[in-house]
Amino acid sequence: MRGLVGLFVLVSLAACAADPPDQRAFDRLSADPVKHGERVSLLLGCSGCHGADLAGKEWSEPEFATVWSANLTASAAKYDDAQLKAVIVGGKRPDGRVLWDMPSHLFTQLADADMAALIAFIRSRPKKGAEHPPPVFGPGAKKEMAEGLYVSSAETVARSGKAWPPDMGQEHARARYIVRATCAECHEMTLRGGIPYPGAEPRADLRIAGAYELKDFSHLLHTGTAAGNRKLGLMGEVARGRYSHFSEAEIAAIHAYLKAVAERDP
Ligand code: HEC
Ligand code: HEC
Repeated sequence: MRGLVGLFVLVSLAACAADPPDQRAFDRLSADPVKHGERVSLLLGCSGCHGADLAGKEWSEPEFATVWSANLTASAAKYDDAQLKAVIVGGKRPDGRVLWDMPSHLFTQLADADMAALIAFIRSRPKKGAEHPPPVFGPGAKKEMAEGLYVSSAETVARSGKAWPPDMGQEHARARYIVRATCAECHEMTLRGGIPYPGAEPRADLRIAGAYELKDFSHLLHTGTAAGNRKLGLMGEVARGRYSHFSEAEIAAIHAYLKAVAERDP
């Protein structure tokens, strides 16, 4: 009898090992959902675009468009959790108005725990100021809309809300999840980089990470200084503002994943 019980325990342990909990999530450095949500919001750039107080900022380029990122402290008062989530991943408000310049397609695959923490963080910020006006499109935006180059956030969700960077198996599932929500914004879902719009700084093919030592890669993501002590432009800003909040474990996972991608599809 005892032998059978022992056998049963062994079998269940083996089943657990073969079926790990879903590792698609950012590292849980804090048990407090608000603290976890704050770190995730920094990594995903919510705080960068919406301001550290989440009250929204003006991002207008007069010739292109007058654009404000939304005041999320006002959104929190207006929407329940399900509506907030639907707006964040759908690029569209409950009344059907589409968003512009909100990268919702990056957030469609966020794990429930990361999304719940983000919402808890948004709700933790004190309400500050009023809602901002909707975008007003100038000649630049109108021209790019006519050419199909500038589309709404809801349209971008329809086009790439289900796309993923290369699949390197279960071992790299967590890094692929992190890279999808962060790096793919600029380096594309294929991770091949390129020039996203005329005149933009070219973005590197992320397979370049395969040539990086882990310590140099970590230095790059934490400080924005590339191998050979090169100061980078936009990448430098993103690294200092957002990726300085990555844990070493997350950076090591991203590095291993990108190295595997570089080796399989150079
Ligand atoms: C690249 C800049 C950018 C990033 C990154 C970004 N947003 Fe936004 N977001 C915007 C802009 C701009 C709008 C307003 C769009 C409009 O008015 O059409 C917006 C709108 C929203 C809205 C709708 C608000 C309302 O009251 O209807 C929510 C909610 C939101 N963002 C949440 C988030 C969260 C959460 C994150 C991070 C996971 C995030 N945003 C990341 C730019 C950004
Ligand atoms: C907001 C846009 C943006 C995001 C997001 C972004 N990058 Fe970049 N990245 C760039 C640009 C632009 C360059 C080219 C260098 C420059 O102009 O700063 C670059 C260059 C690089 C390089 C080449 C460095 C070298 O040796 O020259 C690496 C590696 C890199 N990025 C890794 C990443 C990783 C990993 C992520 C996600 C964790 C990421 N990037 C997210 C814009 C971005």
